[in-house]
Amino acid sequence: MTTPETPDTSAERRGLPPGKMPELRVMPAPADANVYGDVFGGWIMAQVDIAGSLPATRRANGRVATVAVNSFVFKNPVFIGDLLSFYADIVKVGNTSITVNVEVYAERNRLQASIVKVTEATLTYVATGPDRKPRQVPPLETFQ
Ligand SMILES: CC(C)(COP(=O)(O)OP(=O)(O)OC[C@H]1O[C@@H](n2cnc3c(N)ncnc32)[C@H](O)[C@@H]1OP(=O)(O)O)[C@@H](O)C(=O)NCCC(=O)NCCS
Repeated sequence: MTTPETPDTSAERRGLPPGKMPELRVMPAPADANVYGDVFGGWIMAQVDIAGSLPATRRANGRVATVAVNSFVFKNPVFIGDLLSFYADIVKVGNTSITVNVEVYAERNRLQASIVKVTEATLTYVATGPDRKPRQVPPLETFQ
């Protein structure tokens, strides 16, 4: 409920994608910066890989390995102290593979609700067994 003491800080109000929950929210620290003081692209890639692996792991009902980064676009820089939200959606399920689209939004100044889309990527994960070999993605009807 919104009252004068508790302003409406919902995701929609702040300009984040409506009706969706981020898989991951994280704030980069000074140790994640490059030599120019902005956030190192490799750090963002690692977080995107983690965020994408979460729905893939749920769909695979077990471990997955990243087989490919199909596309990765850094649309805007990320700054230390931005609050990043990672949204991940499965876009394709194959025999053993699961492809996930990940979108990253930065809240630059949380008190002024300044939201910027900073990154978009598509990654493919492969469901693997304990032997680390590909295994079939279980059929959807096995999930209750
Ligand atoms: C992931 C791994 C187990 C897949 O084994 P593989 O023998 O290469 O697998 P396959 O050639 O049978 O391909 C498996 C699936 O991945 C897909 N795939 C393989 N290469 C791909 C690529 N470059 N882009 C997109 N999909 C690809 C295949 O199309 C196949 O999908 P499908 O079964 O849904 O049709 C193996 O490549 C591996 O261990 N790679 C290292 C993983 C890793 O260390 N990742 C980084 C840390 S998690």
